[in-house]
Amino acid sequence: MKEITVGLGDRSYPILIESGLLAQASTHIGRFARGGRLVIVADETVAAAQLPALAAGLDGIALETIILPAGEGTKSWAMLERLTDRLIDLGVERSDRIVAFGGGVIGDLVGFAASILKRGCGFVQIPTSLLAQVDSSVGGKTAINSAAGKNLVGAFHQPDMVLIDPAVLATLPPRELRAGYAEVVKYGLIDDAAFFDWCETHGDDVLAGDPAALTEAIAYSVASKARIVAEDERETSGRRALLNLGHTFGHALEAETGFSDVLLHGEAVACGTALAFRFSAAQGLCSEEDAARVGFHLARSGLPSTLSEAHVDTDGATLVAHMAHDKKMEGGKLPFLLARGIGQTFLAKDVDLAEVARFLDGER
Ligand code: NAD
Ligand code: GLY
Repeated sequence: MKEITVGLGDRSYPILIESGLLAQASTHIGRFARGGRLVIVADETVAAAQLPALAAGLDGIALETIILPAGEGTKSWAMLERLTDRLIDLGVERSDRIVAFGGGVIGDLVGFAASILKRGCGFVQIPTSLLAQVDSSVGGKTAINSAAGKNLVGAFHQPDMVLIDPAVLATLPPRELRAGYAEVVKYGLIDDAAFFDWCETHGDDVLAGDPAALTEAIAYSVASKARIVAEDERETSGRRALLNLGHTFGHALEAETGFSDVLLHGEAVACGTALAFRFSAAQGLCSEEDAARVGFHLARSGLPSTLSEAHVDTDGATLVAHMAHDKKMEGGKLPFLLARGIGQTFLAKDVDLAEVARFLDGER
């Protein structure tokens, strides 16, 4: 079993990764069962596909399960109220550890509920989508969406433990697996060109669900994220902001497609990453060759790398207007993640938005 620590002093926590880990869940989280009981929150799809396996791994522990609808709509005030009311009904106390069993939607919602319930309860992440296993379950960003946009209401609240079983990905739809893969590639592009080389060689194995390749991709990604979170937990120094590579362009594409199934979050990040590299090349910051290599790898992994593949046919000014609603705006300026090459991402604070709009018009 691989064990990675997120080093945050007395809030440090372990991330355990092993295929088949669900079967040993009681060994790792059994001690969190206050009075012999654990509360597990899952969406309907994950509950149907994977809850029996988790329950078998928690044999001997009484389980209370809270099952919510699947989909981004669950990160809402209404579902937060439903969840917290139910947790209060169940008598959950601050010393309890609520178990978030699902993708990024359940992880973000349960983490936020845990941060406010009784002024802060503990929680455990058992991520079941590739995106959640390599990104959202680690680092303590929790949130729901508001009418004005995604993730606008939330808190930093670190989990007590993250249990990652790559075997649960067997039931994840292939499109969701590909979308999560975009976040894997991101770690190489940020600061490790050798990992991007690894993705070029082994990406097909990851997408085919090869257990060894999946475990390696997850462990590498999580180690990268754990290191960055330990350095800049609250995204104040600019280091954690690097994890948002592709997200500013991607956010505009998601907004334009109505945050719908037309374009999944990871697909938007993939296209946004290809755009960030091509924009960097257009600005003379990075070679055309590196930008082409990034776009090619994403495209051959079945991810969108152009506006048309992302189903977006909108002028640059409209897309830039979506970006301006991003919560990362600082004093009227929008920081952009650009690249000097593969593995050399940096935060640019003085990007001319009119230049971005012209570039996007050229991409149409
Ligand atoms: P999701 O939770 O909606 O999961 C995607 C779909 O896959 C859902 O239909 C779900 O039911 C299904 N699913 C998940 N695991 C499955 C399994 N093992 N078998 C069968 N079906 C399964 O979405 P996601 O892509 O996991 O996460 C996206 C969310 O994560 C967004 O809300 C995004 O804002 C958030 N996010 C948060 C962070 C963070 O740091 N907190 C980082 C990235 C993304
Ligand atoms: N997913 C970006 C972050 O956790 O900071």
